[in-house]
Amino acid sequence: MADLFSKFDALIEQREALLSTGLTDPFNLVMERVESPTVAICNGRRTILLGTYNYMGMTFDPDVVAAGKQALDEFGSGTTGSRVLNGTYQGHRECEAALRDFYAMDHAMVFSTGYQANLGIISTIAGKDDYIILDIDSHASIYDGCALGNAQIVPFRHNDVEALEKRLRRLPPEAGKLVVLEGVYSMLGDTAPLKEMVSVSKAAGAMVLVDEAHSMGFIGENGRGVAEAQGVIDDVDFIIGTFSKSVGTVGGFCVSNHPKFEILRLVCRPYVFTASLPPSVVATAATSIRKLMHGRAKRDHLWENSKRLHAGLKALGFTLGTDEPQSAIIAVIMPDLEKGAAMWEALLHEGLYVNLARPPATPANMTLLRCSLCAEHTEEQVGEILGMFEAAGRATGCIN
Ligand SMILES: Cc1ncc(COP(=O)(O)O)c(C=O)c1O
Repeated sequence: MADLFSKFDALIEQREALLSTGLTDPFNLVMERVESPTVAICNGRRTILLGTYNYMGMTFDPDVVAAGKQALDEFGSGTTGSRVLNGTYQGHRECEAALRDFYAMDHAMVFSTGYQANLGIISTIAGKDDYIILDIDSHASIYDGCALGNAQIVPFRHNDVEALEKRLRRLPPEAGKLVVLEGVYSMLGDTAPLKEMVSVSKAAGAMVLVDEAHSMGFIGENGRGVAEAQGVIDDVDFIIGTFSKSVGTVGGFCVSNHPKFEILRLVCRPYVFTASLPPSVVATAATSIRKLMHGRAKRDHLWENSKRLHAGLKALGFTLGTDEPQSAIIAVIMPDLEKGAAMWEALLHEGLYVNLARPPATPANMTLLRCSLCAEHTEEQVGEILGMFEAAGRATGCIN
């Protein structure tokens, strides 16, 4: 019998070699208690959280928590059904209304995760004989959406407007085309040149989908994302987002002004063939989204945090993913996985949690320590974080 697990042998060996040095498993951390959006107890000790996607710190917002509790009492723990059968409650409709108001768009469709939103929308709207033109550094859920459908896939170099234009020019002019972009690329925290990319896409007759998972709530005048910040939101056909980051719960969505959008509720398999979100989750999401409409002060503070951390890490001698802070993600580039894992553990011992990211999730085979800031991090906490990076960096030889 051929062992179907033999394909994982190299990964198992690499993992065992890393853990045999006595290193704490960076992919198995348990948060024993979570005290706030920025502090948890890990291995019995107070740990500052700098590796969550809780950008706007909504997880402990009293109104959000109260809405979830009330929905749990009034509607029970789950819907036990698909959105198209018994799984649409009043709360799902209210959540979609909140999204329409947040984006000032005509249609909103809530999925059970952001992953499923990409899977569903991409695989459903781009069919046989259509083309999907996507940034090569796209998120796994975008690639999986492509794999689930049967359109032709045309990747182009990361954030390269000319490469996108060249690819578009080579495609049959009459063919259906969907250009898929992200507002913020989550590994390095860099933003896309959406203004130029949307313009060349439209000139080539393509529809445009932008995944704003890491920018919704934070970037743009009203927190609508990078497309809003760069003034092209009205030219974007579909915006994908998630509730698992700035919104502070779980779920995904697509918003659009396309007049035929609602038909997707009947033909999009990852929407139809899965259970809908629990009432407590959509209640927390709707409340959070409505509060994010008035989140200007939080957005400003998060930008301050991002600038302070970026400048501080640079001054300490770390190599960062972007020259300037472009989002709430600051990526620290490590020389290799061993050093990255050692630095990750040293930070944890200091009382700081960051994300260790490695290939294949990262571009160019990089090992990264990804720092995601929160609007609830105080100025003092950012100072503490920099002190921890300095101590861990020196202890591991990552900086002098
Ligand atoms: C760019 C991007 N899109 C989609 C998702 C999926 O979101 P969710 O966690 O809601 O499945 C993520 C999650 O990390 C992401 O980074």
